[in-house]
Amino acid sequence: MPWFRRLAWTPMILLVASGVLAQPDKKKDDKLPANVSYYKDVRPIFQQHCQGCHQPAMAKGGYVMTGHADLFKKSDTEAAGIVAGKPEISGVYQQIIPQKGKKPAMPRGKEPLSQREVTLIKKWIEQGAKDDTPASARLPSVDAEHPPVYKLPPVIDGLAFNKAGTLLAVTGYHEVLLHKADGTGLLARLVGMSEMVQSVSFSPDGKWLAVTGGNPGRFGEVQIWNVEKRKLKLSIPVTFDTIYGASWSHDSKLVAFGCADNSLRAIDAQTGSQVLFQGAHGDWVLDTVFSVKGTHLVSVSRDMSMKLTEVATARMVDNITSITPGALKGGLQAVDRHPTRDQLFIGGADGTPKLYQMFRTKDRKINDDFNRIRTFAPMQGRIFAAKFSPDGSRVVAGSSSDGKGEVRVFETDTGKSVSTFKGINGPIYALAYHPSGSVIASAGFEGVVHLNDAATGALIRDFVPVPLKK
Ligand code: HEC
Repeated sequence: MPWFRRLAWTPMILLVASGVLAQPDKKKDDKLPANVSYYKDVRPIFQQHCQGCHQPAMAKGGYVMTGHADLFKKSDTEAAGIVAGKPEISGVYQQIIPQKGKKPAMPRGKEPLSQREVTLIKKWIEQGAKDDTPASARLPSVDAEHPPVYKLPPVIDGLAFNKAGTLLAVTGYHEVLLHKADGTGLLARLVGMSEMVQSVSFSPDGKWLAVTGGNPGRFGEVQIWNVEKRKLKLSIPVTFDTIYGASWSHDSKLVAFGCADNSLRAIDAQTGSQVLFQGAHGDWVLDTVFSVKGTHLVSVSRDMSMKLTEVATARMVDNITSITPGALKGGLQAVDRHPTRDQLFIGGADGTPKLYQMFRTKDRKINDDFNRIRTFAPMQGRIFAAKFSPDGSRVVAGSSSDGKGEVRVFETDTGKSVSTFKGINGPIYALAYHPSGSVIASAGFEGVVHLNDAATGALIRDFVPVPLKK
């Protein structure tokens, strides 16, 4: 959900979701606690270093590490993960220490755990491997066999059609829902680890779905799903907070995203390894998009700026928006790129959608906003979603103002207003243009997906994308 709403939600999340109370151990206090806590000390280590490969949606080695009870079960090799009091026969401990002069087997392919982390885990097992999770943080575990149960429609932050125009991906709580593109049926529920799901994006080749999210104040995650098999391929832990704004490079190789530690990052979508880190923003990075040829990355942030980064060097090479004090009004929330030109459509807190060129053709001058091509008519409230039509001739923006929402379509090259959508009541946080160009999906605070005619704005259909329990 939008960052400011997320803050407002946090107290509610504390009540309904498991374990949000624990903060990551940022101090890295070297002194070991006399009594090692599962909840505060051990679980965050597993979350950061192990659960990406050991969770219900992807149990490598047949071993799940997301719930306390799971840890005591046997893996595929019939070895028990944890034997209380006995680290010497606990698989988890044996896997994180060197064996026969070889570096620790786990975490697979990553740097070994620090000495402190290894000692904490050992001591916790020696002390009985108890679960001290507070009652208020205990929740039934959520996985594909136990999908989320909804009493109310969840806030929707992300929508995406696949290129074939057959699927509509919708963010939910703890999951992404795959619907038929015309809204006539739910096809699959992709249940992952993150409670908050912020963005969804299909790869240009249609094979993969990138999902970003996390648990506020605990961990961030990028998921890569195999669309055809409906199977989680990668779960990459990133930072200690939710992740925003996934986008793909044109060749379906890289996924970029924004983080609440003010960084812009990209990973290799096959291996999950980080290929780009840029720390030039001064606030959360909320959306990203690659240039047409994939040589550059564009990021927008709560710091009000839109920045250009060279992919090969990870260097920030330009501020696309003017950085003159006073020129920018409010944080930027959404960016999209023209399908064939390096032009950018952005929206943010000032409520005025704008079109920019990505690359400067003249040297920067003080006070200029040289890259701006066009300003569209201001909308009600803040803009949270902004997209190009598949042929680039139109743009659509969605906004939120005092509990109401608005969706408007404009002509890209003239700025002329094309349509204002009917049947939109609540704030809009997500938009997707169907590849045919004739239908637009929108959703937001109310948890309802609307499908409108892009040209006339008429409502075709609306539906709640999750099964509701009475
Ligand atoms: C990048 C993926 C990945 C990560 C991260 C990872 N594992 Fe594994 N783990 C595997 C795979 C794959 C297996 C299957 C067995 C094998 O290939 O060795 C496995 C197996 C295991 C097993 C069962 C071993 C056996 O002999 O049955 C344990 C226990 C285990 N991992 C613990 C951990 C712990 C603890 C962490 C975090 C410190 C961790 N893993 C992180 C991929 C991973």
